[in-house]
Amino acid sequence: MNGRVVRTLGTKIDPQRDRVHVDGRLVDLRTTKVWVMLHKPQGYLSTCSDPHGRPTVGSLVSGYGARLFPVGRLDMDTEGLLLLTNDGELAYQLTHPKFGIPKTYVAEVEGDPSAAALQRLRRGVELEDGRTSPAEVRPLARGGGRTHIELVLTEGKKRQVRRMLETVGHPVRTLRRVRTGPLALGDLPVGKARELSAEEVAALRRAVGREPETAARTRHD
Ligand code: URA
Repeated sequence: MNGRVVRTLGTKIDPQRDRVHVDGRLVDLRTTKVWVMLHKPQGYLSTCSDPHGRPTVGSLVSGYGARLFPVGRLDMDTEGLLLLTNDGELAYQLTHPKFGIPKTYVAEVEGDPSAAALQRLRRGVELEDGRTSPAEVRPLARGGGRTHIELVLTEGKKRQVRRMLETVGHPVRTLRRVRTGPLALGDLPVGKARELSAEEVAALRRAVGREPETAARTRHD
């Protein structure tokens, strides 16, 4: 980088100023694809800026040497796995319902949903903007008047999990996305971000039916 050999993994670059050569070839930093996983906290908007000055996820992912945009959205009051990237094409495919990328959520709800309520959630419930697609739904733990439920959805209507659970009589207290397609949030702390590995980006490509060898270059190449 800038005539110096860099051996430190995770070294940050400024695409406007730095010149990076790999195997003697100059890398075009403006087209290098960057993928970041963020553990979005509650109270942050899934945007890069807000005219009203509210906290945005953009403020949590600076220093990656690229302008990153969220892949889809989580509600302000939802936390969990949010991907950000400058790879518009793959981001579009990951959010398009046609590709049906599964997203896994853990909701803490009021009360103890009956077997019939869980079955309604699985089959699909009628919302004002249409019926929800079949979903995987599994109670995880019960106690203290609350239940933790895992839901796997392949579509992303606005506030879908909250509205589905409200419809069957169990309002959501907290909601967290723990998985998007092949990627799990794991133990990434709330508010922290990390860059995806080349293997993880390849797994995202496979999830939308794109082969890694035809993939656009990532900064790991
Ligand atoms: N469902 C919701 O209700 N909220 C989200 O942020 C994501 C899915």
